[in-house]
Amino acid sequence: MLDNSSLAGNKAMVIGGSRGIGAAIVKRLTSEGATVAFTYVSHIDRAKTLVAGIESEGGRAIALHADSADASALERAIADGVKALGGLDLLVNNAGILIMGKAHEFSLEDFDKMLAINVRGVFVAAKAAARHLPRGGKILIIGSNTSERAMAPGSSIYGMTKAAVARLVRGLAWDLAANGISVINIQPGPTATDMNPSDSPHADWVRNANPQKRVADPDEIARFVTYLARPESTYINGASLTIDGGFSA
Ligand SMILES: NC(=O)c1ccc[n+]([C@@H]2O[C@H](COP(=O)([O-])OP(=O)(O)OC[C@H]3O[C@@H](n4cnc5c(N)ncnc54)[C@H](OP(=O)(O)O)[C@@H]3O)[C@@H](O)[C@H]2O)c1
Repeated sequence: MLDNSSLAGNKAMVIGGSRGIGAAIVKRLTSEGATVAFTYVSHIDRAKTLVAGIESEGGRAIALHADSADASALERAIADGVKALGGLDLLVNNAGILIMGKAHEFSLEDFDKMLAINVRGVFVAAKAAARHLPRGGKILIIGSNTSERAMAPGSSIYGMTKAAVARLVRGLAWDLAANGISVINIQPGPTATDMNPSDSPHADWVRNANPQKRVADPDEIARFVTYLARPESTYINGASLTIDGGFSA
């Protein structure tokens, strides 16, 4: 009988998998038996260390360089990943950047940069992956709880990119339904990564603004993503699911 509660044999791509939440997702997916190709843009050292760690535990992962802001490079990486994996069952788009700043002081250059990675990159990756995903395939996007509530000054543009992703996911779920592909947006709250360091000037405020008085560990997000990736999660589609310890409640 098919084991619905593991990812044995699953072929997955994680866009932006070298650090933080992405690396935790790559580790969880491979620990459940998936083979994973992931992209990185600037931290080849972290990508190599991640691959070596997974191989030392008997898993298999492949690191590919691709800047999500470069549509051709991203399409090429997905084609190369699919070739190396021998197919594709799952795409996770985790790559994203956070540039903080009040809207009236925000540069057009930073606006375009964040849009290119956080929104256009998601569209490009989903479109490229959809060509390969079989019926039952899944696209999981890492958005943010800031898509729904501003909560503090300085996140207008970042939050806007994540709100765009939430709406894109709703539409993708409809567009790809005939192909049997599900699309889900996972919206973490503050999580302990390089993007949200525990020694930042806002760290105490962020912890105290959360009912649980803490930020998430990346593995808490990865465990949720892994559940959604498994065959047993069959009826979740087009949804934006927030995982933030109640921060935006
Ligand atoms: N941390 C949080 O509090 C939090 C909260 C809500 C949502 N999120 C979202 O969760 C996702 C991951 O965040 P994180 O905190 O883990 O971030 P992070 O620690 O900064 O790691 C970002 C990852 O994305 C990759 N990446 C960044 N820009 C890229 C690009 N242009 N092309 C390809 N890959 C790129 C990085 O690759 P390199 O290692 O090569 O640089 C790295 O693997 C993002 O979408 C973020 O918006 C984070």
